[in-house]
Amino acid sequence: MSILPNLAVAHDEMIRWRRDLHAHPEIAFEERRTSDLVARELERFGITVTRGLAKTGVVGTLTTGRGDRAIALRADMDALPLQEANTFSHASQHQGKMHACGHDGHTAMLLGAAKHLATTRNFDGTVHFIFQPAEENEGGARVMIEEGLFERFPVGAVYGMHNVPGMPAGSFAAKAGPMMAAFDVFEIVVTGRGSHAALPHQGIDSVVVAAHIVTALQSIASRNVDPLDAVVVSVTQVHAGDAWNIIPDQAVLRGTCRTFTPALHASMEKRIERVARGLCEAMGATMTLRYEKRYPPTVNSDLETAAAVRAAEALVGAEGVNKRPVPMMGSEDFAFMLQARPGCYIWIGNGDGEGSCMLHNPRYDFNDAILPLGASYWVRLVEQELARA
Ligand code: NI
Repeated sequence: MSILPNLAVAHDEMIRWRRDLHAHPEIAFEERRTSDLVARELERFGITVTRGLAKTGVVGTLTTGRGDRAIALRADMDALPLQEANTFSHASQHQGKMHACGHDGHTAMLLGAAKHLATTRNFDGTVHFIFQPAEENEGGARVMIEEGLFERFPVGAVYGMHNVPGMPAGSFAAKAGPMMAAFDVFEIVVTGRGSHAALPHQGIDSVVVAAHIVTALQSIASRNVDPLDAVVVSVTQVHAGDAWNIIPDQAVLRGTCRTFTPALHASMEKRIERVARGLCEAMGATMTLRYEKRYPPTVNSDLETAAAVRAAEALVGAEGVNKRPVPMMGSEDFAFMLQARPGCYIWIGNGDGEGSCMLHNPRYDFNDAILPLGASYWVRLVEQELARA
């Protein structure tokens, strides 16, 4: 593995940032301290700083030479509402909040790259360093775009990176096409007619109807959709009734759908509606469906993925970059940036040492050993894509 020499030197500083952020996690749109730290450091490197997009977002802009090419590099800054179970000295000092997805590491790596690029300036063009809030659930990337991110900071391509526990430290993975799934949520309210539980014939049992719906929804994945086009429908909440002997008027089902392809993604609401409404009609109940598309699928473009793979291979060799990773059913709001601009979302191995349990686990920790490699990747990518003539 070849790390850029200056970044090996900067390792200690990146560890300091990373552990400081880990100890002070902030959740969606509340990343004030984090945002202050990022802005202060960028300014110290001599990088132009713009604040306030999506409340706590920070964009650093660095231009060198006369070239008009521009690319954006993005890191997410937010933590999760989770109580940390680790006891090391940099464990969370904020009750019920934790950097359990490694966004502390992502922020530190992009800061390290920004510092290096501001010093060496071995490129021609403009780099925008995007530090975005609220990746988890709240779609901070979407909000930044709605507030004019790419109009104010026009770029030809945008790049993102996420750590993956269990994937070897010193490795990367990326492919063109879908990397992460679309994330939708739904709520079905079934209305029957309440009655005494001993006299079911006088009512319409919302619980029985809801139970049929839960089961029948699984036929979407197993019977309606091409088995090679991945889909998950999970009912995750069932709410009805308060008593032993009352058939409740209403039952509420909630859940989530995950898909990769745009056509299937677009069809899910109709499929769920058809199953649920059909069963309600068959049993004399009525229903309402609330369906929300939260995150689109994260889809990498061809050219930019080839560029990202080239930059990664320059550091870890061809064998260190998995060019055919299996996409994950999880989701990522970088998807909104990839809808707006071509680009590539790459995975970096977090290794399988201590703290390498899966993301969102209360014992997770970002692996500080990979900080220089991640920062080197950003620098390589910039020097390659904005190469001097
Ligand atoms: Ni994450």
